[in-house]
Amino acid sequence: MSGTPRGDYAKAFAAAQSDPATFWADKAEGIDWIKRWDRVIDDTRKPFYRWFAGGVLNTCYNCVDRHVERGRADQLALVFDSPLAGTQRKISYRELQVLTARCAGALLAMGVKKGDTVVIYMPMVPEAVVAMLACARIGAVHSVVFGGFAAPELAKRVVDARPAAMISASCGLLPGRSVPYKPLLDEALQIAGVPHTPCLILQRPQLQASMLPGRDIDWDEAMARATPADCVPVAATDPLYVIYTSGTTGKPKGVVRDNGGHAVALRWSMEAVYGTQPGDVYWAASDVGWVVGHSYIVYGPLLQGCTTILYEGKPVGTPDAGAFWRLCAEHKVNVLFTAPTAFRAIKKEDPSGALVKQYDLSKFRMLFLAGERGDPDTIEWAGKILGVPVIDNWWQTELGWPAISNCMGIEALPVRPGSPTKPVPGFDIHILDEDGREKAANDIGSLVIKLPLPPGGLTTLWNNDAGFVETYLERYPGYYLSGDAGYFDADGYGWVMARIDDIINVAGHRLSTGQMEEILSAHPAVAEAAVVGVVDALKGQVPVGLVVLKSGVTQSEAEICAELVAKVRAQLGAVADFKSVQVIARLPKTRSGKVLRVTIRSMADGEALKVPATIEDDSVLPEISAALHSLGYPRSDN
Ligand code: COA
Ligand code: AMP
Repeated sequence: MSGTPRGDYAKAFAAAQSDPATFWADKAEGIDWIKRWDRVIDDTRKPFYRWFAGGVLNTCYNCVDRHVERGRADQLALVFDSPLAGTQRKISYRELQVLTARCAGALLAMGVKKGDTVVIYMPMVPEAVVAMLACARIGAVHSVVFGGFAAPELAKRVVDARPAAMISASCGLLPGRSVPYKPLLDEALQIAGVPHTPCLILQRPQLQASMLPGRDIDWDEAMARATPADCVPVAATDPLYVIYTSGTTGKPKGVVRDNGGHAVALRWSMEAVYGTQPGDVYWAASDVGWVVGHSYIVYGPLLQGCTTILYEGKPVGTPDAGAFWRLCAEHKVNVLFTAPTAFRAIKKEDPSGALVKQYDLSKFRMLFLAGERGDPDTIEWAGKILGVPVIDNWWQTELGWPAISNCMGIEALPVRPGSPTKPVPGFDIHILDEDGREKAANDIGSLVIKLPLPPGGLTTLWNNDAGFVETYLERYPGYYLSGDAGYFDADGYGWVMARIDDIINVAGHRLSTGQMEEILSAHPAVAEAAVVGVVDALKGQVPVGLVVLKSGVTQSEAEICAELVAKVRAQLGAVADFKSVQVIARLPKTRSGKVLRVTIRSMADGEALKVPATIEDDSVLPEISAALHSLGYPRSDN
């Protein structure tokens, strides 16, 4: 971007580019510090940049206590709405302070100390939020694991994070059934080889978990006897949490977030990107296990003094496609944030948006969509039925908050459906070719961000500085590799089109096809496997697997496929939605032996066939096509 900045957005962007230290020191005024920082950007250990080095604060204090002290004690901090449990619970900032202080005391009583990790494996209940804040209160590092992950996945995170304690619940709720969490927790601790880790367990009325005497502690009892604990001073550069996300292998990556930079960026994003003011009602319809949940169910809204909504339900079927509008009307929601897939689900059930008209949405100002590419159809449809701006924003677990967005609190730029608009001030985004040269406008390339990342971005991978450098910083020295491919148009609008690795996005959930391939290949009958993400009208993408069997296998193909589906569900989780797999005689490969996943995907999607000249033997393609046909691909509705 060049020339003299004109609009407010251009001015803010230019200010963050030209003097980031001054820009972010100004934004840091939105946070209460116990001790102010010595340096805004500490670049003494490049490429490990640190924000607000020398600063001391407490994130829980900034989310809760300061609002109680400054006139928001009786304002609602959190509204829990669960059509699945048939309950609602409204918690004021004053009540949230009492709950977090008690939970913090309970954790201390369990032996959790500042700097220890705590793994939280919880459904969407207020206690999950309380647990996160309680960790922040005593300087413990939480790692929340999404409830849809199976025990072996939870175990991997336990092995990596080595928690001093676990916090979980007896069950999660899904339409028509409860999911027992406690047996998964027990199994995960066994697999991880740490079966004696102290566990704090919330017993939900829908299902009582059996407790292990001497190890498991009942949430209600622990809260009742806990001595409330105060907020402890924490260095700005100390970790606040670790969140595991899919990489290219089966080993998830532990993204580390600091306290100071995170608090500054998240609070400012609520104002600048999401256009909220303290007192607004903000609803991120996601799950606390995902980064959207961390940033915009918990930390962002609470840092900003908003009321946050915690929803245990689905966009459709709980009870109908009007569920979102019921919540928006009943809780006077000002801003809603969700994934496009939720809107595709609603559109499928209520294409004319008739249910919207049954509710008073007069308080509703804006809809934000992220987590996957916002397809123009969905964005336009949502805008039409709601009559409010629909704002796409691009970011990732690693970045923690939007990197490309229309910054509604700075200046609303014209929307171009399919583009998340322009880089957020603080993000210096470039599109590079294979050799690191800048791509021209409209030319697709690797989307990278010039270092340092602004506050709030990952500081490293948990206990894995080398992995952090190797995964993100080595490909283009001086830049962070996002793993996405995209381009800027001639007006500087960003377009994020695809991944450059094997990560897929299923209903807004980030998953690794490489990880699924590892699970399939571990089956005794399977010689090799390929999994690709194919286009799905509802979920954006779904995984499809092709496997080659070892010679001499006598088990029936149907039985093997059923076992493979069950295996992915048991080892990775139902959330992977792995339901399509087919046996084939051989995989398409290049002469050097690389599996041509792009070719398989293009066939499944019914696109123009992408076959590289280096294919070893193209006579394999008709069989691949037949296998995909038998799985129903390409789909007629894509
Ligand atoms: N615990 C256990 N299992 C879970 C789970 C949890 N917390 N959450 C989901 N699952 C299971 C589901 O029951 C389903 O299992 P099934 O194969 O037996 O039906 C599977 O995981 C896939 O779940 P989901 O992705 O939620 O698909 P769905 O078909 O049930 O619902 C949508 C589809 C679009 C309605 C749903 O994905 C949705 O609401 N998405 C909103 C977007 C979102 O939250 N994104 C998060 C990042 S912003
Ligand atoms: P996650 O880390 O789970 O938030 O997933 C991040 C990935 O989802 C990104 O790297 C993109 O591939 C994709 N993604 C998220 N938001 C968008 C968006 N607005 N447009 C396009 N892709 C997106």
